[in-house]
Amino acid sequence: MSQRTKLLRAELKIATTMRQKQSDYMQWAKLQSKARFNLATSGVAAYPLSELPVTIDQLEINGDHTYGYAPLQQAIAKKAGVDPDSVVAAAGTSMANHLAMAALIEPGDDVLIEHPAYELLVSTAQYLQAQVTRFPRREENNFALDPAEIRRAITPKAKLIVITNLHNPTSVLTPESTLREVGDIARSIGARVLVDEVYLDAVYENTPRTSFHLGKEFVVTSSLTKVYGLSGLRCGWILAQPDQARAMYRLNDLFGAVPPHPAELLSVIAFQNLHKIRNRARTIVEADRAVLANFFAADNGHSFAATRSDFGTTTFPHLKNGNVGAFITQLREKHETSVVPGHFFDMPDYFRIGMGVNTQMFAEGLRRLPQAIPL
Ligand SMILES: Cc1ncc(COP(=O)(O)O)c(C=O)c1O
Repeated sequence: MSQRTKLLRAELKIATTMRQKQSDYMQWAKLQSKARFNLATSGVAAYPLSELPVTIDQLEINGDHTYGYAPLQQAIAKKAGVDPDSVVAAAGTSMANHLAMAALIEPGDDVLIEHPAYELLVSTAQYLQAQVTRFPRREENNFALDPAEIRRAITPKAKLIVITNLHNPTSVLTPESTLREVGDIARSIGARVLVDEVYLDAVYENTPRTSFHLGKEFVVTSSLTKVYGLSGLRCGWILAQPDQARAMYRLNDLFGAVPPHPAELLSVIAFQNLHKIRNRARTIVEADRAVLANFFAADNGHSFAATRSDFGTTTFPHLKNGNVGAFITQLREKHETSVVPGHFFDMPDYFRIGMGVNTQMFAEGLRRLPQAIPL
């Protein structure tokens, strides 16, 4: 073997054994997503501290840290209708997903993740050295979660099936009957189902209960970020069986050990006012959805196609004609409007639009979309 071949082989080996250690989507979201007309959002407008009924004497810097601050454990447990022993508080759904996956899988395990998916779910599984397989949610099926697709993709080595409900990016709701079927598949091979429910409370009427209640194979993550506008509190959680929950708390000792106590105190107050906080954003989300419906009705399938959802804060259209990359560039450079490029969801012909921040901005951003379609 020549020296050059040896070198090439060594490089290839490094490339294939190197772990994923970053997220291209997150870097883009942090550094490049903003614009005057920002349709690249996924959560509702920030809820201001001034509207939270809190006084400085209710806050403190240091607390008594063990595994979970009891009043917050109870508040999360009460909201979810579970025992506090099943609650793991985490720094946002982001850390909740990381902890849940890290506790449930070993390097080399097969992990099945929906496609399209929130990029961090994929990159986190890859960072944890899982063998990631994707199963499709098809547009011709209105991006519904289809248990038959999971059955087709499943392997005996699969340890985890990962889904979002509501689905990011399409906001499609998966009914309980379908989730049960997914639970049955997981149980048949001793796997678990991780359901990221960070958008679920954006179903404002008859909000479904958490899928944690559907069986022991379900592990659920969520937070007060997307639907409540409280991202800065980093109030996330995992719902898991008590033994798993303990293991996840122990694992968290290796990362952050203890959360910021002022954020825990504020989170407890947020839970006491959750209804009011959710309703504030609901008005904007519903106004934006009406504007979006008018936009698609006026377009009448001429330039854009999108699966409609009655819920959620995002939608995932594609162009009927024209190059999406050129469209997104033009939209930003000439029309001061941003959307999330579909390639972050491994669907480069699509783009994601977010609702719930500011209806005037949203309407103006939408108005600019057709102007950016390349001729
Ligand atoms: C599906 C999904 N999970 C988790 C997150 C991160 O949520 P958090 O701000 O609670 O960490 C996002 C943010 O976009 C998301 O879309």
